[in-house]
Amino acid sequence: MKNKNKWRKTVAESKLQEGVPLKTRLGTQAVVLARSEGWIYAMGGKCTHYGGPLEKGRLQGHILTCPWHTARFDIMSGDVKAPPALEDLSHYETKVEAGDVYVRKVPAEKLSVPSGTDSRAFLILGTGAGGLNAALTLRKLGFAGRVLLATSEADLPYDRPALSKGFLAGETAKDEIFLEPAPAYRRFGLEILMNHRATCVDPKKKTVEFANGRRLRYHKLLLATGGSPRVPEIKGIRLPGFFVLRSLRDALAISAAVARAKTAAVIGGSFLGLEVAASLRSRGLMVHVIAPETVLMAHVFGPRIGGFLKRRHEENGVVFHLGRTVAEISGGRRVNGLLLSDGSRIAAEIVIAGIGVVPVTGYLRKSCLLDGGVVPVDTRFRTRDPNVFAVGDIALVPDPLTGEARRVEHWVEAERQGRHAAMGMAGIEEAYRETPFFWTNQYDLSIKYAGYAGPFDRIAYRGDIEAEKILAGYYREGILRAVAALGRTKEFLTALEIVKAGGRIPPARFRDPGFDMAEAI
Ligand SMILES: Cc1cc2nc3c(=O)[nH]c(=O)nc-3n(C[C@H](O)[C@H](O)[C@H](O)COP(=O)(O)OP(=O)(O)OC[C@H]3O[C@@H](n4cnc5c(N)ncnc54)[C@H](O)[C@@H]3O)c2cc1C
Ligand code: FES
Repeated sequence: MKNKNKWRKTVAESKLQEGVPLKTRLGTQAVVLARSEGWIYAMGGKCTHYGGPLEKGRLQGHILTCPWHTARFDIMSGDVKAPPALEDLSHYETKVEAGDVYVRKVPAEKLSVPSGTDSRAFLILGTGAGGLNAALTLRKLGFAGRVLLATSEADLPYDRPALSKGFLAGETAKDEIFLEPAPAYRRFGLEILMNHRATCVDPKKKTVEFANGRRLRYHKLLLATGGSPRVPEIKGIRLPGFFVLRSLRDALAISAAVARAKTAAVIGGSFLGLEVAASLRSRGLMVHVIAPETVLMAHVFGPRIGGFLKRRHEENGVVFHLGRTVAEISGGRRVNGLLLSDGSRIAAEIVIAGIGVVPVTGYLRKSCLLDGGVVPVDTRFRTRDPNVFAVGDIALVPDPLTGEARRVEHWVEAERQGRHAAMGMAGIEEAYRETPFFWTNQYDLSIKYAGYAGPFDRIAYRGDIEAEKILAGYYREGILRAVAALGRTKEFLTALEIVKAGGRIPPARFRDPGFDMAEAI
C-alpha cells in the first residue's frame, strides 16, 4: 500500500539516546521516538489501554513496556505484544535529514476476518479477560474458521476492573466500560452468544450444552468462565440492599442503590472491598469496612503497605472494624444494618460483600477436566483433553519459573493466558513465560504487583512509604518471587524483569538505594 501521508519534522537526532524513549508531539498527537540498536522508531505515545505515557516506560531491545499496567508493544510495528492493551499503537516510518528526525504515519491495517476457508469452529466459554483475548488473538493469527464466544451474561465484553474503581465512583460512564464497540465484533467475525450459560461439556462428543436448551459442537474449546463471588452464609443476604460485585449488572445495581443511600458497609478488606470503599467515599457515603484480619492485605503486601493503606482510608473517612466478622445482616423490607461477631451493631442501608470468588466450573462436573474444582492445564493451557483449553480464574497453571501449580485471579494475567491459549488452539507450540501482574487503585494511590510469591518468608523494602515511593520485594527461600510498588515505576519495571529472570538479587542489594537494579537482571 502506497503511503500518502506527509513527512513531518520532529526532534534533532542528537536528542535520541539508545534505549531511552522520547516524547514529542505532532499537533495534538503524542508520539514516542526510540532508538534501538542504532535504528530509530516512532509510534503513538499513549498506551491504547488507559493512555499511559509510553515515554516513561521501559525499553528493552525493541519491546516497550507501559509504565502503568505493563502492556508491551513492539516499537518496530506498534503491535501489542502483551495485554492489557488490546489495540496496536499507530506506527510511523522514520528518516533522518540534516540532523533532524522526520516521521510519517503508516496507514493502519484494521483487524478483520482473515481470508481463506477453514471449516472448523472454535468455541470459547466466557467473554471476560481470557475469552475475549483468545478470540481476538485467533483472528490476529489468521484463523479463518468460526469463532463463537458464549457468555452467561447479557452484555458485550466490558472492563471488569473498572467496575469497582471509576464506574462505582461515578467517573466512568456505562458506554465507556465496553472493551469494543458492537460493530467491531462483526468486523472481527466473532459471534457473541449472550445469555448462553453452559451447563455441561462432553469432551468425547465435543459438545457443550447450555441452559437455554442449545447444544453446540466444537473442534476446539476454550474454558474461560472466571469466578463467582462468595456469599457469606449468614442471615439477611436475601434482603434488598445486599450485593456482591462481579458483573456489570451487579455494578449497575449497586450504583443505583448508592444514589439513594447515605451509609454503606463493605464485608471484606481485600483489594475489591477496599476499592469499593474508596469509590463509595468519593460519592459521599459513610463507609464501614468489616474484616477478620487485623492488618489489611498483609498476606499480599506485608504489614507496611497494609498499614499505610488503612491510614489512607481512615484519612478519607472510612471506619474499620477489623478482627471481627459479620454475624448477621439486619433489616425489614431492606437492609438496615449489621450485627458483628463482638455483638456490636452498625447502621447501613447497603451492604457489599467482597470476600473472594469461587471458580465457575460446575458445568464441568461430569467431565474428566476438573481437579478439586479447578482445571489443571499445561504450559500451553491444554487441559487433560487435547482439544480443550482453559485460562484465567479457573485454570491451575504451572509456574514458568518453578513449575509449581498456581492459580491467580488477575485481569492482565487472564488476558495474557487467553492470548497464549489461542496460540495453542491455532497449533503454535510455545510454553507460557509471563509473570503475573495486578494493580489496585484506591483514591489517588495506584499500587502495582508483579510475580507470584505464595507464602513469602521475608520482605525487603526500598524507599519510603510515607513519601509514597516504595518498592517491596517478597522473598521465599532467598529468591525474589514478587515485587510491589507505590511510585518508583522505573525500578518496578526493572524488578519485574529480575523476578522473571529467576529473582537472584540478595535482599541487602534490593534495599540498597545506591545499587542499580538493572545489574541484577
Ligand atoms: C470488580 C472487580 C475488579 C477487579 N479489579 C481487578 C484489578 O484491578 N486488577 C486485577 O488484576 N484483577 C482485578 N479483578 C479480577 C479480574 O477481573 C479477574 O481475575 C479476571 O476477570 C478473570 O478473567 P477470566 O477470563 O478468568 O474471567 P472473567 O473475566 O470473570 O470472565 C468470565 C466470563 O465467563 C462467563 N461465564 C461464567 N459462567 C459461565 C457459564 N457457565 N457459561 C458461559 N459463560 C459463563 C461470564 O459471564 C464472563 O463473561 C477484578 C475483579 C472484579 C470483579
Ligand atoms: S495504560 Fe498502559 S497498560 Fe494500562
